[in-house]
Amino acid sequence: MEKSKVLIIGGTGYLGKRLVKASLAQGHETYVLHRPEIGVDIDKVQLLLSFKEQGAQLVPGSFNDYHSLVNAVKLVDVVICAISGVHIRSHQILLQLKLVDAIKEAGNVKRFLPSEFGTDPARMGDALEPGRVTFDDKMVVRKAIQEGNIPFTYVSANCFAGYFLGGLCQPGFILPSRDSVTLLGDGNQKAIYVDEDDIAMYTIKTIDDPRTLNKTVYIRPPKNILSQREVVQIWEKLIGKELRKSSISKEDFLASLKGQSYAQQVGLVHYYHVCYEGCLANFEIGNDAVEASQLYPEIKYTTVEEYMKRYV
Ligand SMILES: NC(=O)c1ccc[n+]([C@@H]2O[C@H](COP(=O)([O-])OP(=O)(O)OC[C@H]3O[C@@H](n4cnc5c(N)ncnc54)[C@H](OP(=O)(O)O)[C@@H]3O)[C@@H](O)[C@H]2O)c1
Repeated sequence: MEKSKVLIIGGTGYLGKRLVKASLAQGHETYVLHRPEIGVDIDKVQLLLSFKEQGAQLVPGSFNDYHSLVNAVKLVDVVICAISGVHIRSHQILLQLKLVDAIKEAGNVKRFLPSEFGTDPARMGDALEPGRVTFDDKMVVRKAIQEGNIPFTYVSANCFAGYFLGGLCQPGFILPSRDSVTLLGDGNQKAIYVDEDDIAMYTIKTIDDPRTLNKTVYIRPPKNILSQREVVQIWEKLIGKELRKSSISKEDFLASLKGQSYAQQVGLVHYYHVCYEGCLANFEIGNDAVEASQLYPEIKYTTVEEYMKRYV
C-alpha cells in the first residue's frame, strides 16, 4: 500500500518536531505548515529549514488565512495537528475549529489526528475547574470532527516523560532532585509515562492503519505503568542514593491552587487527576479503542529507567 502524504501543523513545537521526524523516518511524504506569524523566530525558521533538508516540504499557511489552510490540506491524505495545549506555555486548541472547516471544505482527507496526545478528554467529564478547560476544548474539537464526518484517530499518549519523569511526578519540576521528593498522597497511584519520540513513532504508525480508523489509540507501554513511588525507586537506584520523602495530602494539594496563576492552576488540576485519582491507568481499554504497544510490537519503546538515565 502506498504511504499516505502527511501534513503536520505545529511542526516546530515540542511534540510537533518529533512527529515530523517520525513521519520522515517512516517514509511518508511529509509537509510541514510554515506560518508567516513565526516571522524572525530564528530557531523555528532554522528548524523548518532542517526539516526541508531532511526531505520535508514546507507549506506556507496561517490560521488567519482560511484559504491557505484549505490549500495546505488539499496537498495530503492525512493531517496531524500538534498545536499547543499546555497553559503554562500556550493553549490554542480551539483554533483547530478553523482547521476542521478547512478539512471539510477540502474533502480529500482520509484521516485527521487533532492535537490531543494526553489524557483522554472523553473520560474527564468530571474534571475539576479550571483544569477541565483542556479536556472541554479538546471535546469541542472532537464534536466538530465527528459532526463533519471527518475520519479521525485520537491519540491518548498519557504522560509526556519529559514533564513527569523529569520532575519525579512533582508539578513545577522538570529535573529530578538528588536529595528529596514530595509524594502526591501516598505516591501509589499508577500513571503511564511515554518518551515523546515514542509517542511520535506510534502516532505515525496509526495513520495508515485501518484498525485505528475512528478510534482512540491509548499508548500504554506495559513496563511504563508505574506509581510515583516506583519512579522514585528507579531514580534512587540510578543515583545510588535514597531521597528524603515527604508527602502532600489531597486536601493540601487542592488548597495550594489558591493564589496560583490560572495557567498554573490548570496544570495542577491535571496532576491532581493523574497522581491522586490515577485517571490514566484506572480503567480497562474498551472494545471501541486500541492500545499502541499491542498494535505495534515492533516499536522498542523506551522504558522509564532508560529515559531517566539522561538525568544521572
Ligand atoms: N500528555 C502530556 O503530558 C502533554 C504534555 C504537553 C502537551 N501535551 C499535548 O500535546 C499537544 C502539543 O503540545 P506541545 O507542548 O507540543 O505544544 P507547543 O510546543 O507548546 O506548541 C506547538 C505548536 O503550536 C503552534 N502554535 C502555538 N501558538 C499558535 C498560534 N497562536 N497560532 C497557531 N499556531 C500556534 C506552534 O506551531 P508552529 O510550529 O507553526 O509555530 C507551536 O510550535 C497539545 O495537545 C498538548 O495538550 C500533552
